[in-house]
Parts: sequence; C-alpha cells; structure tokens
Amino acid sequence: MDVYQKSQASHPYTEQDIGTTRLLPTYRMDLRPTHSKDVFYQANPISNWKDVSWDKIGRPYRVERWSKEKLRWEKEHDQQLPPQTSWEMFNRSFQNLFDADALATRQEAFGTLGKSLGTLKMHEALEAVEDIVQATVWNKIHRVEDAVWDPRGKRALFEGLDVKKPEVLFLGAADGYEAMQLMAMYPGGHAVLVDYDDYCRTNRFGEFPEAYPFLGEDPATGAPRVWYRDEMNIDFEVVDIRDLKYGKEFDVVVSIGLIEHFPDEYKPLALDMHRRFLKPGGYAIMTTPRAQLQSKIFYTLFADIMNFAYRELMDVKHLGLYAYENGFEILRHGRIKAHNGIIARAR
Ligand SMILES: C[S@@+](CC[C@H](N)C(=O)[O-])C[C@H]1O[C@@H](n2cnc3c(N)ncnc32)[C@H](O)[C@@H]1O
Repeated sequence: MDVYQKSQASHPYTEQDIGTTRLLPTYRMDLRPTHSKDVFYQANPISNWKDVSWDKIGRPYRVERWSKEKLRWEKEHDQQLPPQTSWEMFNRSFQNLFDADALATRQEAFGTLGKSLGTLKMHEALEAVEDIVQATVWNKIHRVEDAVWDPRGKRALFEGLDVKKPEVLFLGAADGYEAMQLMAMYPGGHAVLVDYDDYCRTNRFGEFPEAYPFLGEDPATGAPRVWYRDEMNIDFEVVDIRDLKYGKEFDVVVSIGLIEHFPDEYKPLALDMHRRFLKPGGYAIMTTPRAQLQSKIFYTLFADIMNFAYRELMDVKHLGLYAYENGFEILRHGRIKAHNGIIARAR
C-alpha cells in the first residue's frame, strides 16, 4: 500500500461526502447536517427548575435484571461483584457488540438454528433464537438508527459552546466517542479521557475505527470539515475518577452514561466530579439513558451483555433536577435518541 492508498483507507471521506450517510458492516457513517430531520432533540421542556420537585416527577427507573455472568461471579465468590470488576466485564461484552458484523452474526445463528432443529437439540436452538433476536435488535439500534453514538443528536447537544481550543475532560470515557465529536466541533483543543478499565485505553478507544468520520469545523474558515481520530490531540489516563488530581483547568467536563450508575447517596459526589475540575464559567455536559419503553426492552433483551452494575433510566427532568439541586445552573437540556442531555455551569 502506498502512502496515498493508506490515507484513503484510513481517511476515506472528504468534505465532498458532507450531507451523506452510509451503512457499513459495523456502524453507520453519518455526515448529514446536525439539524436534518430525525435528530429528535427536544430542547428545554423545563423553564424554571425551582418548580420541579421529586414529588412531582417521581424517581428514576431502576434496571434490576442482571447479567448471568454477574450472578455466577457473586455465587462463586459469595459476595457482591465489586464495581470496577463489573465495569471490566461490561466493557468487554459491550465492545463485542460494536466489533461484530450484526448481519453476518445473524446469518450464522440462522444456520445454527437450522442444524440444531434438525438434530432436535432444543437448548442450542433456543440459544440461536436469542442470538438472532439480539443481532437483529443491535443492527437496528446501533447500525440503522445509530442511536448509541447518535452523531447528529450529540452535535445538536454540544453545539453553541463559547469555547476555543478547549481543554476537555471525559469522565468514564469508555470508547471516547463524544470527546472525538467535541474535538471535531471545537478543533485545536486537547482531551483527557479517564477510565479505570485499561481495556478502554487499549481496545475500546485504542481500536476505535480510524476511518470513522466526525463532522466538525475547519478552524481557518469556519466551514464544515471532516475529522478523524488520528488528527486529534487526545490522552488517555487509566485511573479512578475519584483519584484525579487536576486543578480547575478544563473548559468542558463531560460524562456519557455515568451519573445513572451512582445510587442517590453518591449522586452529590458524582456531580461534584463534574464541577471540581472546571475553569470558572466552564461547561459540564452530562447524559443518561432515557426511561423510554425501547430502553427498558433493550436492557431486558441485552441483560446478559449490559447489566453488571447499578443502573437507572431517567427522564431529562430527573437528570436536570439532580444537577440543579447539586449546584448547577442548567443552560440547555433535552432528549436525543437514547439519552437525556444537559449543558450546565456551576452556580
Ligand atoms: C456506562 S460506561 C459509559 C458508557 C459508554 N458511553 C459506553 O459506550 O460504554 C461507564 C464507563 O465509566 C467507567 N467508570 C465507572 N466508574 C469509574 C470510576 N470511578 N473511575 C473511572 N472510570 C469509571 C467504566 O469503566 C466504563 O467504561
């Protein structure tokens, strides 16, 4: 492969592809503009957070159907699965979904189903049916609807921040997707990804597709530009977020699907982690999964793959109220495809 072919392979899309979307074997590439039709970002349903109370909105929904692997571990060790071990299990099993070609997996499972029915191996047949359902649902959610990465929803949530070349801190970064989206939208900055599972550094982020295009901005002209991860200035720190030693040095502190893993007695700590390292006037960005029917069905069907740790599903009012009563001013809030999102500042 010469240099040109190599750069074509790792950077296959250019500004000429802006406005288009394509389904690839393991993900959707989506360079359609942020505000095209199906973003579903419903901004600002609450006008005054003082009027919201837990009595009025109730509590978040708890997911309590657990992964078999977690239950087996707890039986074998006669103790509760420690949180860090639960995340190590989660990250490996969730990443398997991102790595698999869902349609090929489904095809293979249909083959297994046929064979096991032919030989009357009913247990094997049931497992094959489960694989078919999971591959079909994952294909729809992640590939067709792109509801997990949700680039247009995330861009709609992240747009309009008053920052230039920002320093970004990503708490519980996993694959680091949202930091890359922020780096594309606000180019020239630097992101620190923090996760205590080293597998996230080596695999989830480490092997994130280098050919995935992020739609952002050209800093010289302000025109739309396609960015790739290897053009971004990103460091990955493998450490517990509670042990971080930074000062107030970040323009943006972001977490995606982290707050809902802290039961209420730890929510003040979780929210404080988003405030502690912000420069005065800096932005905290938080998202949590929505308590919608599709999400409840997803966490039931995918319990073995996803449910290793305490998890709540919320409405955006829950997320906003947690932030408001823990000292944040909420600048913007709304719903994207699978998550609630808020942009906040320390009050
Ligand atoms: C629910 S995941 C985030 C979801 C993510 N968007 C994804 O695609 O999987 C939360 C991440 O936070 C990390 N994490 C949880 N508690 C942490 C802590 N105290 N310190 C550092 N990382 C933590 C986990 O290892 C995991 O990778």
